[in-house]
Amino acid sequence: MYYFTERMTEDDIEQVQMIERASFSTLWSANTYRHELRSSTTRYIVARASPTPPPPRTERPASRRGLLANLIPMFFGQQTTTRDFPIVGYGGVWLSVDEGHITTIAVAPAYRGRGIGELLLNGLIDQALDMHADVLTLEVRVSNIVAQQLYLKYGFRPAGKRLRYYTDNGEDALIMSTEPIRSPAYQERLRQLRERLFARLREEANEPAPLHDNLQPRTD
Ligand SMILES: CC(C)(COP(=O)(O)OP(=O)(O)OC[C@H]1O[C@@H](n2cnc3c(N)ncnc32)[C@H](O)[C@@H]1OP(=O)(O)O)[C@@H](O)C(=O)NCCC(=O)NCCS
Repeated sequence: MYYFTERMTEDDIEQVQMIERASFSTLWSANTYRHELRSSTTRYIVARASPTPPPPRTERPASRRGLLANLIPMFFGQQTTTRDFPIVGYGGVWLSVDEGHITTIAVAPAYRGRGIGELLLNGLIDQALDMHADVLTLEVRVSNIVAQQLYLKYGFRPAGKRLRYYTDNGEDALIMSTEPIRSPAYQERLRQLRERLFARLREEANEPAPLHDNLQPRTD
């Protein structure tokens, strides 16, 4: 399967909520998503799966497409109409002054462990750079070791805790933040990580979709 990211639209909310239900215990309403999508300080993206290389999309100016898209465009989807391809993950980033806050990120359970979480995080980093964020930050459950590993890989480091942050079970949040994402050191780290990620995704392009992926929204 080929995986690519693009900006989320309101038409995507239903599929995104299916993945959200399978991933989190506290859920956002469709209205919350609509509000987030309409905000000028947030960016949401989805990852889609395609059995064939995604068709080209209308070009945007290179400066708007972000480093990752420019490095290896084939995984970024190149077209504007891609709804035939199911959504397999999503994520969002909110800009607060010069800080990009990763608000959410999730991959459909059947598609985890294939590099899609990493692809999404890269997409969010590009969106944050595009909004002129200087650093990235996020909260993650102290028990969520898988997500923490992903963030550590991308240079997020523990920066404190928010006690009893999660209302469902009173769990603490670990705050994680990056160094300045425009620094030469971080950009070099990103370049190396992206090279490895795209090699991995190239290998996976020939692999079939997981069985029982159950990604199509219900029509009843
Ligand atoms: C966190 C999540 C988005 C990761 O997505 P994914 O597509 O499975 O992750 P990837 O395949 O891209 O893996 C990227 C990195 O994540 C970490 N990771 C992924 N799966 C892991 C596992 N089972 N154990 C430990 N680390 C893991 C590793 O650092 C991995 O890099 P590596 O392959 O070099 O070891 C996914 O597990 C998910 O949707 N979880 C539920 C929602 C959630 O917890 N979101 C985070 C909220 S803060």
